[in-house]
Amino acid sequence: MTDTAIDQALAKAHQHFTGSNPASLRQFEEQARYMPGANSRSVLFYAPFPLTIAKGEGSALWDADGHRYADFIAEYTAGVYGHSAPEIRDAVFEAMNAGINLTGHNLLEGRLARTICERFPQIEQLRFTNSGTEANLMALTAALHFTGRRKIVVFSGGYHGGVLGFGTKPSPTTVPFDFLVLPYNDARAARAQIDAHGPEIAAILVEPMQGASGCIPGRLDFLQTLRDGAARVGALLVFDEVMTSRLAPHGLANKLGIRSDLTTLGKYIGGGMSFGAFGGRRDVMALFDPRTGPLAHSGTFNNNVMTMAAGYAGLTKLFTPEAAGALAERGDAMRARLNALCEKEGVALQFTGLGSLMNAHFVAGEVLRSEDLAAVDGRLRQLLFFHLLGQGIYASPRGFVVLSLPVSDADIDRFVATIGSFIDEYRPLLAAVG
Ligand SMILES: Cc1ncc(COP(=O)(O)O)c(C=O)c1O
Repeated sequence: MTDTAIDQALAKAHQHFTGSNPASLRQFEEQARYMPGANSRSVLFYAPFPLTIAKGEGSALWDADGHRYADFIAEYTAGVYGHSAPEIRDAVFEAMNAGINLTGHNLLEGRLARTICERFPQIEQLRFTNSGTEANLMALTAALHFTGRRKIVVFSGGYHGGVLGFGTKPSPTTVPFDFLVLPYNDARAARAQIDAHGPEIAAILVEPMQGASGCIPGRLDFLQTLRDGAARVGALLVFDEVMTSRLAPHGLANKLGIRSDLTTLGKYIGGGMSFGAFGGRRDVMALFDPRTGPLAHSGTFNNNVMTMAAGYAGLTKLFTPEAAGALAERGDAMRARLNALCEKEGVALQFTGLGSLMNAHFVAGEVLRSEDLAAVDGRLRQLLFFHLLGQGIYASPRGFVVLSLPVSDADIDRFVATIGSFIDEYRPLLAAVG
């Protein structure tokens, strides 16, 4: 099938989308007068214009034109509780009733800190931030000061926040630290490079499963090589568990049996409010003890009462360790169904990932690193996105699919059926598996 056929299918999808969403188009045009491209989060943009989401309830969303969607993106994993959990709303209202912006240590932050430390045993002490990006910046800063070194090992395709993105080299907006970018899931290259640069390396920063680059699980031998290498050269191993902490009752690293020196968290842990945290070894975190440590760490909203209350309610009443395990199992079962379907249909489409996080990829064969996706035709991802939207399913344009707690089995059945109808409709455009 020719290139033209894909272009034509996409033009038809865009035309249908534009005709169906006049209110979103109007919003987009008005907002573009005050925000470049009407946008304040690059990930939310797609052509011809993004939907404006007007309302959410449970696992359902409504756009500005009144269409209803089953939400399979869930605020890029921060929305594990759905859009209206009463436990979260009650906690936030209660906190607000006791006063906003209290300018002091408050009654809520200590119990959230304790809950997180008890849940993720590698975190002996932590500090809160407002985002996962900040958490990673602070963890790296801690490592630089703790070791007195400059170099930071990261991995191609890694994403650690708005100013910490990596392809085969740092993205243009990435902070100018001294990064060494190595291939993901290549234990041999990692061992050689860690040993070659050993005395310069302050930190090795890695996602145990790369999220933004397409839900690519880290191989155990690779992650263990990083653990051993960091210990050998005296660097700190920093696991970015902003996404992966949800994938097992006590986080993915804990499930894999690898103990990092520092861990960063974010997303759902704040109960859906803005959140980040970094923590780990007590001797490293002592750098930030204002009684004795040399480092200051500020942030007006670090301990804001809404996040502190919502986070505690979420982790203790809703996304308990048992609930995290159960959601991961539902995700594993859904991904197995999707992959069985793609295999049966003989198309070059697969869903990678772990537990409740997965990503559709239009490629056959094992996906070990983002380079394995370089040849994928991005137009197929777009076609899938618009096909899902047309069936009332909101997923990410990059093929990222996320389960939240309120997603129903019927929603999952519908998602699987919609992948089936996508394959039926576009079969001639999908390369056959060889
Ligand atoms: C693995 C990982 N780290 C860090 C971040 C940054 O978190 P935030 O968007 O809260 O700054 C993200 C966001 O998607 C992420 O996926």
